Amino acid sequence: MITKGIILAGGTGTRLYPMTMAVSKQLLPVYDKPMIYYPLSIMMLAGIKDIFIITTPEDHMHFRNLLKDGSQWGISINYAIQDKPTGIPAAYTIAEGFLAGEGSAMMLGDNILYGANIAEPLIKACHNEKGATIFTYQTNEPERFGVINFDKDNKPSSIEEKPKNPKSNHAITGLYFFDERASKIARDLKPSARGETEITDMIKFYLEEGTMQHSPLGRGHFWLDAGTHASMLEASQFIAMIERHQRYKVGCIEEVAWRKGWISDQELHDMATGPLAKSGYGQYLESLITEKAG
Ligand code: TTP
Repeated sequence: MITKGIILAGGTGTRLYPMTMAVSKQLLPVYDKPMIYYPLSIMMLAGIKDIFIITTPEDHMHFRNLLKDGSQWGISINYAIQDKPTGIPAAYTIAEGFLAGEGSAMMLGDNILYGANIAEPLIKACHNEKGATIFTYQTNEPERFGVINFDKDNKPSSIEEKPKNPKSNHAITGLYFFDERASKIARDLKPSARGETEITDMIKFYLEEGTMQHSPLGRGHFWLDAGTHASMLEASQFIAMIERHQRYKVGCIEEVAWRKGWISDQELHDMATGPLAKSGYGQYLESLITEKAG
């Protein structure tokens, strides 16, 4: 059973300049909460309570100030610094001590994932201890992502990183479940032509070994990486629309912790009436307790 999770929240965020010249992308807002709340809540929905967050040296203290050690939400958060953005697989070498020979889930700090019963495929992936599970999403812009191709029997056959002429529109999302070999595989990777190690090369290892599970996200799901001005705005608009129309918030860490039974009604109430009271966020948390009391 996979019980450990990594959130990779370093990077330079050059596509969001000048916004990210002084602050990490993952601390910027997506509507009513910092971007990192979304991947963190996904980890929690998967049932993962032991979390390792990787940041840049400059932003490290801001993340600590925001999320602390996680105990306020009944989870554990540890932090590490990535000195230079040498590639996504570096997460597994930086986290090697934390992983201590176990498999893990990893999510990119700028990815937003939402949808009906989203916890189900995540929990299933946690049960898959051998090999890898990746999540794919059909997109209109496959050339922006790692893309998975299929053979005539519809089985995943190859992977291409940002293909100029994509053969499929199935993008690989920034959520990966790898077994205990991930750190070793990451260590052996060579940088690609753009000077970074590539997560697609790690996935290829499992694909070629025949141990890669592929979990397609469907119509009822929404995924995007909020790494450009347009996609960040789109993400905010999407979350705003859902939250205004359907009553429930998306990516609300406090709510997930409470629904999982990791914090009590009293603890949620204390949060709702403390520093969060004035923003509307606190009122929302308080309304969950009232709703439960019926
Ligand atoms: P990218 O969006 O590929 O890179 P970036 O965040 O530096 O942005 P830009 O391309 O605009 O310069 O990264 C995807 C996610 O992975 C993002 O959440 C940052 C994170 N990341 C790291 O933490 N370390 C790394 O070495 C890389 C490449 C990415």
